[in-house]
Amino acid sequence: MAQEHVESMLKVEEIFEPSKDVIERAWVKDYEKVYKHAKENPETFWGEIAKELEWFEPWKKVLKWEHPWASWFVGARCNITYNCLDRHVKSWRRNKAAVIWVGENGAERIITYDELLRNVNRCANMLFDIGVRKGDRVTIYLPRIPEQIVAMLACARLGAVHSLVYSGFSAAALQSRIHDAEAKVVITADCGYQRAKCIPLKHIVDEAVKYCPSVEKVVVVRRQEPKIKLEPKDIDWHEGMAKASQKFEAVEMDAEDPLFTLYTSGTTGKPKGVMHVHGGYMVGTYITTKWVFDLKDEDIMFCTADPGWVTGHSYIVYGPLLNGATILFAEGAPDYPDPGRWWGLIEKYGVNILYTTPTAIRLLMKYGDDWPQKYDLSSLKILGSVGEPINPEAWLWYRKVTGNKLPIMDTWWQTETGMILVTPLPCMKLKPGSAARPFPGIEPAIVDREGKPLPANEGGFMTIKKPWPAMMKTIYKDPERYSQYWKTIGNVYLAGDMARQDKDGYFFFMGRADDVIKVSGYRLGTAEIESAIVSHYAVAESACIGKPDALKGEIIKAFVILKQGYKPSDFLLDEIKKQVRKELGPIAIPSEVEFTEWLPKTRSGKIMRRVLKAKELGVEPGDVSTLEE
Ligand code: WTA
Repeated sequence: MAQEHVESMLKVEEIFEPSKDVIERAWVKDYEKVYKHAKENPETFWGEIAKELEWFEPWKKVLKWEHPWASWFVGARCNITYNCLDRHVKSWRRNKAAVIWVGENGAERIITYDELLRNVNRCANMLFDIGVRKGDRVTIYLPRIPEQIVAMLACARLGAVHSLVYSGFSAAALQSRIHDAEAKVVITADCGYQRAKCIPLKHIVDEAVKYCPSVEKVVVVRRQEPKIKLEPKDIDWHEGMAKASQKFEAVEMDAEDPLFTLYTSGTTGKPKGVMHVHGGYMVGTYITTKWVFDLKDEDIMFCTADPGWVTGHSYIVYGPLLNGATILFAEGAPDYPDPGRWWGLIEKYGVNILYTTPTAIRLLMKYGDDWPQKYDLSSLKILGSVGEPINPEAWLWYRKVTGNKLPIMDTWWQTETGMILVTPLPCMKLKPGSAARPFPGIEPAIVDREGKPLPANEGGFMTIKKPWPAMMKTIYKDPERYSQYWKTIGNVYLAGDMARQDKDGYFFFMGRADDVIKVSGYRLGTAEIESAIVSHYAVAESACIGKPDALKGEIIKAFVILKQGYKPSDFLLDEIKKQVRKELGPIAIPSEVEFTEWLPKTRSGKIMRRVLKAKELGVEPGDVSTLEE
């Protein structure tokens, strides 16, 4: 499959040069020069950027690197929320809109920086009153409403560690994340809306916390009338906020103190708690938001992600707020009530930057050009893409329907990297389907299994040679799993992606090299889906693969061996899907389930998903010397 992919990519030769006005406006006008400076003097480069932000105490050293452990801004004191809020409230930005929120039903709320700070302070006081202290973990299971942003910032302000769980995950998945984090408090809402359907989040939390003894309180945002009943453990968000003072000084944190954990899927076992810290993450998200999206004070940025995933953390909440921007934050789906939903929001609010996923673009493309053409999209100046490789057709359509002249930033990065690592900057030429070049300060290499760099256009493992500020600090409670990233191939960071670089140094990403699947840009691990399937009473064994899909990028295909005495049936097929929904949530339900009597395994008993995938796609499986007879 990889080879086919390379060949289809190689056919694309179209190159788009940046226009004069784009370069004129851009923060970075000469990429090569900035890249060279950052490469030669990385500590000076990152130090200069960090100085654009405010610190309670400066660092003694920009970077301490003791492979595989990095400490950034050693000895510095800061709090990311001081730079997201206080820094702006002290300035002319005080009454500038920080967040424009639109609900699925058309409700609107505009929150200024001053108001956001006061809300965050109230929330920090409310959390403090119920016993949350510096270092405590708080799980946030909220839909896309302003309270989600307020809750994140309130945790950070008082030094607690937030752990967001995407509200599409089931009670069982939520429970395992609360459990691993040993969260003291869970913040949720009665209801999240998606296509006019209410997802009963509080109900899901009640299920989940039954078996989580660490949870002392559940804070509930009640949106519905009549209001849902509260349990003895519960606190009403609005009542708590009304009682709380609107003053709360940001707690002074060490630059290396944890800011959040975010659970993400890996190759094996349970999701891992990727941990980020206040200092380095702040610097990395600040500068990438500014340079990649050419963010200016007058801009409105619309990132369509959900803060339950890393894109929302870095490019809805922290990056834009660090820059004092205005965020458009929308609840609901891109095509509900109709496929003009996002285009209509862009027209109504005069959005300047749109950052979304290839799956969403392909979905909107399916509805045709008429929808975007109905709206005035002339306010747009930069487009972004993230989460999965964007195919040239979708890239070209995205550009065409938004005026045929806008730069598209295809940004490659990960939960672990915290910030965008490979991307064009607006001043660069663009190749559809390519994420272009490394961000200044980032030194990638595409290598073979032994760590040997590969020549142009040869696909291999994506690695990063040197640390960068927003890199994860560790995996929560599992430093060994963290170390593996830097120890599997040579002494470099192994991303888990396959990529190639063309003769101009442009990167083309080819998908994951491991057992991580990206379904509509959502990151899932085959291991978790398999263990959900195997928890069904009739299932003996299961193996899952990601199968290429024209709309979703990949879909999940599950191979299932039934226990003796059970026969394949539509009933069981349906039951198995329901089991996955229960264990993980609707996003993890396999699109295809195939009953089988055999799975390819190594002699040591490991399932060779690669062989299954090759068979499914009708291609050569590669090295099968370890396959059992
Ligand atoms: C994939 C999402 C190709 C990649 C920010 C990576 C991409 C995984 C791109 C991380 C892109 C992200 N082109 N692939 N522009 N962006 N990916 O942790 O496989 O949810 O390893 O972070 O998404 O997914 P995660």
